[in-house]
Amino acid sequence: MADDTLFSEVLDPANRADPYPIYARLRENPVSPQRDGSIVVSTHAAIRSLIFDPRLSSEDLPPSHRPRTGNLLKDWLLNPIKDRIATAHRPLIFRDPPDHDILRSVVMREFTVARVQALKQRVVRDVDTLIDACRGRDEVCLVEDLSYPLPVAVICDMLGVPEADEPQFQIWATQLATALEPDARHDQASRHRTVAAFDAISGYMRALIREKRRHPASDMLSALAAPGPRGQAVMGDFDLISTAILLLVAGHETTVNLITNGMLTLLRHPLELDRLRADPERAPRVIEELLRYEPPVHFRTRKALGAIEIAGHTIRKGAPVILLFAAANRDPVRFVDPDRFDPDREDIQHFGFGGGLHYCMGAPLARIEAEIALVALCRRLVAPRLMVDPPPYRPGASLRGPERLGIGINGIAAHPT
Ligand code: HEM
Repeated sequence: MADDTLFSEVLDPANRADPYPIYARLRENPVSPQRDGSIVVSTHAAIRSLIFDPRLSSEDLPPSHRPRTGNLLKDWLLNPIKDRIATAHRPLIFRDPPDHDILRSVVMREFTVARVQALKQRVVRDVDTLIDACRGRDEVCLVEDLSYPLPVAVICDMLGVPEADEPQFQIWATQLATALEPDARHDQASRHRTVAAFDAISGYMRALIREKRRHPASDMLSALAAPGPRGQAVMGDFDLISTAILLLVAGHETTVNLITNGMLTLLRHPLELDRLRADPERAPRVIEELLRYEPPVHFRTRKALGAIEIAGHTIRKGAPVILLFAAANRDPVRFVDPDRFDPDREDIQHFGFGGGLHYCMGAPLARIEAEIALVALCRRLVAPRLMVDPPPYRPGASLRGPERLGIGINGIAAHPT
């Protein structure tokens, strides 16, 4: 493996189950130019210095270029207009200041403690219902039975999407999440599917926002769609739609992966599983260590707006820059014995939720979902054991997680009181 093709090895699905030896090779050269012109940044110190650097832009989403439909009006007039709107109103994760900061502050106002606490009750109920539904079986497929349905139900509740529409949301969220994967970004067919999903969900959201304005409720979409104190719109409709879509996508597959990677890791470390079962108070420690050791988001991409000198290298203007969070999380210069899963470690400044301006807005909610789900799984699955190790993984190298996780069980215990 040449050093300048190491990142293509990361993207290779054959390395999905264990990319960590490649990350160790990449860390030998903290700022590693790749043959395709991109720059991979992989140490804790280098990422920490770049994550706050305004010369790194998040506006790196490729233009959508809708496929030809054969309808002259759509192809010559409507689609280019839609493309321009989509580019101008990208979700805030793909935007820089000042637009990013303005939109982010509006959304953050709605991530109130009260809202997140109210969702907690729902998470407890849903987790129990989903586990109860596995009664009478000797095997659970964690992804299908719990990790997948839980986060989408929670986000739909938060946004105020009717429950009946959740299955459709799950399909859109899965397709839209591929916008974060370098392979899918370069694949024409996948990009066309993403554009189609984006158009479909945008139409759905437009109608839902209209409905929320007519009949406002206590959900986040109603609050974001409500007029400000002087009757003006707090956020324009296009930004409102892209924000709602972002919340759905950002909070779905990531949380699926945290729960699934979490249970996989605990089953590989049965002593830790037993300790969590005996003492649920350990959950916050376990989740923080999971976010370091097996993070749901392995990397994010940026674009250099100017030349940047770092670690003896010059990142040239315009270069795509890959911030390899998962490699930094296992940097031996930063963490003692980094390849060891150790929830008792004290020093745990991970990049599991990114960092800087784009630090994850849903972190408190994700932590709650994962804590409740993992504690319930440890307490209620009787004699859980992995059926296949390593499990099969989904294609994504950035949003990395198992496609299925079969867990053999000897039954489901009643909910502990
Ligand atoms: C375990 C679950 C989650 C993980 C690991 C995770 C991880 C991340 C990471 C790494 C970023 C930084 C992206 C960047 O630097 O470009 C991010 C941003 C974001 N996350 Fe999360 N996330 C999770 C759950 C959620 C949830 C539940 C929500 C919402 C309900 C959410 C909403 C967002 C939003 C809106 C951003 C963009 C923030 C910005 O650009 O300012 N995330 N997340």
